[in-house]
Amino acid sequence: MNDQELVACALHARKQAYTPYSHWTVGAALLTEDGTVYEGCNIENAAYTPTNCAERTAFFKAVSEGARAFTAIAIVGGYDTSEPEQVCAPCGVCRQVMMEFCDPKRFRVVLGTKDGVAQTYTLEELLPCGFGPGTLSGE
Ligand code: THU
Repeated sequence: MNDQELVACALHARKQAYTPYSHWTVGAALLTEDGTVYEGCNIENAAYTPTNCAERTAFFKAVSEGARAFTAIAIVGGYDTSEPEQVCAPCGVCRQVMMEFCDPKRFRVVLGTKDGVAQTYTLEELLPCGFGPGTLSGE
């Protein structure tokens, strides 16, 4: 699966977004080392704070099914059903969840639009000096 295809999966995932409050719809597609893709969308809540971002939905689906080794995540977002023209970068909480399961120097975050891949970063670029499992184990 290449990055362009992973963005296509994120666009597909975004169709399931549940966003009655913000109307900001996000899709994510998380690729494992063995080539499996876990899709996620954002899921909002009337109490607001229980809202789950698309990226975390994808991670929690994957981890809950036993996946632990990840290579990349593609993310797309925009207003309601509009086609995403601009990139949607992951929030800080989602970057921290990525930090728990991914090597920040190798894990890639692919930001897409309706036209496909727009920008690619390593997790380390998006979360420099991140606090992760290695910090606690003295690495
Ligand atoms: N959102 C995501 O799904 N991912 C992000 O990284 C940024 C924000 C969602 C949360 C909320 O449902 C909506 O976008 C507006 O913040």
